[in-house]
Amino acid sequence: MSRDELPIGVFDSGIGGLTVLRQLHRQLPAEGTIYLGDTARVPYGTKSAQVVTRYALNNARLLVQRGVKLLVVACNTASAVALEALEDALDVPVVGVIEPGARRAAAVSGSGVVGVIGTEGTITSGSYQQALARVRPDLVVQARACPLFVPLAEEGWQGHPLAEQVAREYLQGWLRPDADTLILGCTHYPVLADAIARVLGTGIRLVDSASAVAAEVEKMLDNRQLRASSGATATREYWVTDVPERFRRVGRIFLDEEIAGVRLVDVAEQPH
Ligand code: DGL
Repeated sequence: MSRDELPIGVFDSGIGGLTVLRQLHRQLPAEGTIYLGDTARVPYGTKSAQVVTRYALNNARLLVQRGVKLLVVACNTASAVALEALEDALDVPVVGVIEPGARRAAAVSGSGVVGVIGTEGTITSGSYQQALARVRPDLVVQARACPLFVPLAEEGWQGHPLAEQVAREYLQGWLRPDADTLILGCTHYPVLADAIARVLGTGIRLVDSASAVAAEVEKMLDNRQLRASSGATATREYWVTDVPERFRRVGRIFLDEEIAGVRLVDVAEQPH
């Protein structure tokens, strides 16, 4: 098989990365994908950078061994703490979610006051703050961890009154009045966008990195002449590290389509 015919590998701690996969499928329909949800070890957001880096390397190596032409780290926490380690360890191009999301937010903010929410790991790493400062040093950035959003999303409770109540606790009155943009800095959060928007009102634009990531992937594939030919059949594979049934049931909300054929895999710790 030639390199351009290989699928794109995508991984997340669980189902959140399916919001990125959905956008990849929409923007690059000819590309095959393998999605790995590390459902046995979710959440990553409360774990140390060392542990998340180890998990990220395990996941990435499994996908690379299977054969992928590019790797998407569809998890903000892993992108925040492990991107460099992944780039150093792998011989395929790696795309994280933080830079593309930061660039998009910096481009759309008129007032220059931007909020970012994510897991504890992502927010305390300072990765968004640094990425935003690199693209637009004049930005004022407010950052906050919202840890309860992940279990709410994993539970499929995006329409539950509790989702809005939790959003209210975290976000009401938090953003400066002149803020106009909020980065959803966790791939689980886009499914809670309605509840978040109801709390923040219409003056705040919500930015998630999915479409910016898909555009970045497209550019990288083009630059390296790795685009699948348009006539190719795009395979879709789903791998999980625990309980396929739950992934299938809740994952369809994130992916916005049925998920067929979920395979249980073992990401046994490989030496590195
Ligand atoms: N989806 C992960 C992210 O984007 C967070 C979920 C977790 O804590 O594992 O950061």
